[in-house]
Amino acid sequence: MPDAAETADLFSRAPVIPVLTIEDHESAVPLARALCDGGLPVLEVTLRTRAALAAIAAIAVEVPECIVGAGTVVRHVDAAFAIDAGAKFLVSPGTDSVLAETFTEIEIPVLPGCATVSEAMVLSDLGFDILKFFPAEASGGAAWLNAVAAPLPHIRFCPTGGIDQANAGDYLALPNVIAVGGSWVVPRDALAARDFARIRKLAQEAASLRG
Ligand code: 3PG
Repeated sequence: MPDAAETADLFSRAPVIPVLTIEDHESAVPLARALCDGGLPVLEVTLRTRAALAAIAAIAVEVPECIVGAGTVVRHVDAAFAIDAGAKFLVSPGTDSVLAETFTEIEIPVLPGCATVSEAMVLSDLGFDILKFFPAEASGGAAWLNAVAAPLPHIRFCPTGGIDQANAGDYLALPNVIAVGGSWVVPRDALAARDFARIRKLAQEAASLRG
C-alpha cells in the first residue's frame, strides 16, 4: 500500500503537475529540465505514446531533480511497466476494481482517478485519501470540489482536465485541492518546435500560482 505521508508530501511539492504527452523520447530530458528549472519538479508522463516508457526512463536517470511519474495507467500491466521504467508515482484517469486492487499492492505513491462522490468513497475505503478528480471541468469543476468538502472532509484532490493558467487559481484556492494537473504548460507547438525557453516561462507562471 502506498505510504500516505509520502504521497501527501509528493503532491504538495508544486501547485501544478504538468501532464506530458511525449511523442519523441529525445525531447523528454530537455523538457523535464525546463519544467523543473521553471519550478515544477513533479511531472506526469502519460502512457499514451510509444515513447512514454523511454521518456520516463530517461527523465528518471538524467534529471534526478525531477520526480517523474506515469499517467493514464488503466491496466495492471501499465503499472508494472511504468514502475520498471522508473516511474516514482502512478496516476489513473478512473479506477475500476482491478486497478484499485493493483494500487493497493504497490509501494509508490498513487493518484487514483475518480469523478463522483461514490467513486471517491470506494477509494477512500481502500485507504486512498488523495485522488485525481477527472475530467475536472467537465465533471463539475471547482464547484463540485467545494460541494464535496463537507461530506468528504478527509479527501484531497488533484483536479485535472480542462484546467489552464486562467482557471487554475480557482481550484488552488480550495482547501481540499492539493495541486492541479494540466497540459497547458507544455503547448503542443512549443514542444514540437523544442521551444524550451517558452515552456520554462509557462512553468514559472504556473509555479507562482500558489504563493
Ligand atoms: C490528460 O490526461 O490528458 C489530462 O487530464 C490533461 O488534461 P488537459 O489536457 O485538459 O490539461
